[in-house]
Amino acid sequence: MRLLRRSWAGLMHHQQRRLLVTTSNGGREEQQQQQQHKWSSPGSRTEQMIYAAFWAGGLTLGYHWLTHRSHHVLLEEQKEDEQEALARLWHVTLRKELPTYKAKQVEQHNCPENRIWVTYGLGVYDVTDFAENHPGGDKILMAAGSAIDPFWAIYQQHNTLEVLELLEGFRIGNLEGELVATVDDELGSPWSQEPQRHALLKPASKRPFNAEPPIGLLAEQFYTPNELFYVRNHLPVPVISAEDYELEIDGGEGQEKTLSLAGIKALPKHSVTAAIMCGGNRRSEMTKVKAVKGLSWGAGAVGNAKWSGARLCDVLRAQGVQPDESKHVIFEGADLDPTSHPYGASIPLAKALDPRGDVILAYEMNDETLSRDHGYPIRVIVPGTVGARNVKWLTRIVVADRESDSHWQQNDYKGFSPSTDWDTVDFSKSDAIQAMPVTSAICAPQSGARVKVDEDDGEEGGKYITVKGYAWSGGGRKIVRVDLTNDEGASWHVAELEQEDIPDGRHYGWSLWTARLPVSEEQRKAGDVEIWAKAVDSAYNVQPEKFEHIWNLRGVLANAYHKVKVKIV
Ligand code: MTE
Repeated sequence: MRLLRRSWAGLMHHQQRRLLVTTSNGGREEQQQQQQHKWSSPGSRTEQMIYAAFWAGGLTLGYHWLTHRSHHVLLEEQKEDEQEALARLWHVTLRKELPTYKAKQVEQHNCPENRIWVTYGLGVYDVTDFAENHPGGDKILMAAGSAIDPFWAIYQQHNTLEVLELLEGFRIGNLEGELVATVDDELGSPWSQEPQRHALLKPASKRPFNAEPPIGLLAEQFYTPNELFYVRNHLPVPVISAEDYELEIDGGEGQEKTLSLAGIKALPKHSVTAAIMCGGNRRSEMTKVKAVKGLSWGAGAVGNAKWSGARLCDVLRAQGVQPDESKHVIFEGADLDPTSHPYGASIPLAKALDPRGDVILAYEMNDETLSRDHGYPIRVIVPGTVGARNVKWLTRIVVADRESDSHWQQNDYKGFSPSTDWDTVDFSKSDAIQAMPVTSAICAPQSGARVKVDEDDGEEGGKYITVKGYAWSGGGRKIVRVDLTNDEGASWHVAELEQEDIPDGRHYGWSLWTARLPVSEEQRKAGDVEIWAKAVDSAYNVQPEKFEHIWNLRGVLANAYHKVKVKIV
């Protein structure tokens, strides 16, 4: 709040600045003076407030101000997104109480010894004390002495009120010169060639694009339609032509080769049904216990598809790669971060070489050419393994005696104890997630729905509601049962499963399920019912009951019972 209040005054300066940078060169200074004079004249404050309110928060905000007449009250009452809208202006707002620095002066502060300064928009910040706790590790040093704008244009997770507040707290000055291009400037922006997406995909973030389908549709079809399959991108989608595509394979000990797309397609074609699930699926439920960092996924960051392509075990064996349980296979994508590092992840070599592991270099999804969002022209499908290891836009495979050193393998997609928080976390002490734990979700009815009670026409003649959903477990473990209750576990009802007839250990597709839950007279009168679902896999692993006991700071592995409250009509 402290910063928000301060920013209000700063917003006025921003409006002056905005006018300044949009005027032609001639008479710029004069115009600025006139502008400043105008804004500082007695009687003009109302005008300033109205203009700023309309500019930053829209008509509602302006109206609000007019009726309340107190910007303090107004700011307290703003919704978080309105506060964020204001916070996004801080870095383009001149702070007159602070000194102005030239870019050359900023450049000299490029290491901890000289202190680490960065610029963002026209703000200059001393981030020395924060650098060693930066969640993105020492990537922050790449921007030392220069602008963080290009990095933040990629890593849009910085674009939150919390991070913007933190940064503004480090502000030490203003940068002399023009405003830099904003991230919304499409021309030459890394986001300018993003593919078209289906309107039903609900974005958790637009840049990079991350979206899930309405969960109500998920349990409708065993194979999730490609255009409704959730999308999880960390970076802009690369543009790759089939003709230019090359996959480098380094099998170790000098065994290197390059495969073209035609070369991959010429290999024996293998198909596997596999659900891909993001490590953060259902994070939005876990975050209710206590805030976690990450995209707020519902239960739709999962999809089930038939994937077709060449088997990785065939490719590696042809190259003479020998089994070695201490080794790993590193995958790199064509999507590059601002430091030119590709998205990367790795899996154990044992999984890659196991013919029952069904790891494939996929070029088809549900018998259609892979779309750009899902990894065109080639992605690796690692069945039973967390989505993060299923690297899209695959350009390089390396057999190595270490895991991938990428951010996503080392400093993300790992689980921790509920007592570990950001001040105590040590990513190097935790294993990277590979196989996912057993989970399930109720897709219909959804929370808050009004549900019609059906009459059973069988002998029992009872009343019931129909519940549908999905269940899945990692590591090829088949779902053996899904239990449902609508009386907090006093009685459980076993769902009917729809699943592939595939041996356990290689059962990579999800199971859809349907259950009929009896509704008592009492429940009908009360009107409210809470339904719980829990799945059991072939190792008799069962979902944990509560998120409280599996909470972790990144909100991954969120597989507690799925619970929805509905109204009986
Ligand atoms: N591969 C690349 N190259 N870049 C990425 O951002 N995201 C990973 C994985 N592979 C990612 C990637 C994550 S975290 C997930 S959950 C899955 O892709 C999502 O796959 P999808 O977008 O096809 O559903």
